[in-house]
Amino acid sequence: MSAQTAVVTGGAHGLGEAIVRRLHADGYRVAIADLDGAAAEALAKELGEAKGYAVDVADRAAVDGLLAAALADFGSVHVLVNNAARTQAKKLMDITADELDAVLKVNLGGTFSACQVFGAHFAAQGYGRIVNMASLAGQNGGTATGGHYASSKGAVLSATKVFARELAPHGVTVNAVSPGPQDSPMVRSIVDDVDGLARSIPVGRLGDPAFIARMVALLASPGAASVTGACWDANGGLYLR
Ligand SMILES: NC(=O)c1ccc[n+]([C@@H]2O[C@H](COP(=O)([O-])OP(=O)(O)OC[C@H]3O[C@@H](n4cnc5c(N)ncnc54)[C@H](O)[C@@H]3O)[C@@H](O)[C@H]2O)c1
Repeated sequence: MSAQTAVVTGGAHGLGEAIVRRLHADGYRVAIADLDGAAAEALAKELGEAKGYAVDVADRAAVDGLLAAALADFGSVHVLVNNAARTQAKKLMDITADELDAVLKVNLGGTFSACQVFGAHFAAQGYGRIVNMASLAGQNGGTATGGHYASSKGAVLSATKVFARELAPHGVTVNAVSPGPQDSPMVRSIVDDVDGLARSIPVGRLGDPAFIARMVALLASPGAASVTGACWDANGGLYLR
């Protein structure tokens, strides 16, 4: 493949890092945008043909700045992966208004803004691929995670559809990947009994972040032209539809 550039938000850790490594291995130049700019830069340095940026996706001006910086550094951008998110577990009735705002601002607001900013650029160039990280929690209401997180991810699925419809005539696809619990540092940090969680999943195991990354890479590829507005599930059979 000719060298395309992919922007991955939240790409410094966890699933985002796996996605960055997959896209890089597939030949993309990768712009790694993360609140943790130092980790993003360290990963970029390790990979080469990549660059790290300190970005808070909840800040619309920072998202505008990310597109401008990626264009300045790489010349063009073809793929956006909206992966950055705040994952919190809290009892539903104890979630404060500030906590709700903070989660929605990043998970929905960051994804929505980036779909607007990069979507407009992709539409103008007549090509683009956007992949949004949703979650099983957004489909079934969630279990380990809080109601604010689950609600934000339901909204990400709706945003995926509205942007898919808007951008389809312009060569731009917008899709979601919806993981159930993965064997990732975040899951291990919020779940006490990881083995018990694995046993509760019909296939008897947590998901593999490397496989999620392959799903993202497939949706990000030029050949995925006829898939848009879709949500690809990877939940081990926890939610069948
Ligand atoms: N891990 C799972 O099992 C699982 C399951 C379902 C969905 N997901 C989704 O996959 C994505 C990645 O999950 P993860 O487990 O790797 O999460 P994580 O918390 O381990 O990593 C999130 C990354 O996003 C960054 N980030 C957080 N807020 C940011 C902001 N405002 N601006 C820029 N970067 C920010 C963090 O620094 C971190 O690098 C998320 O969208 C999450 O909702 C994960």
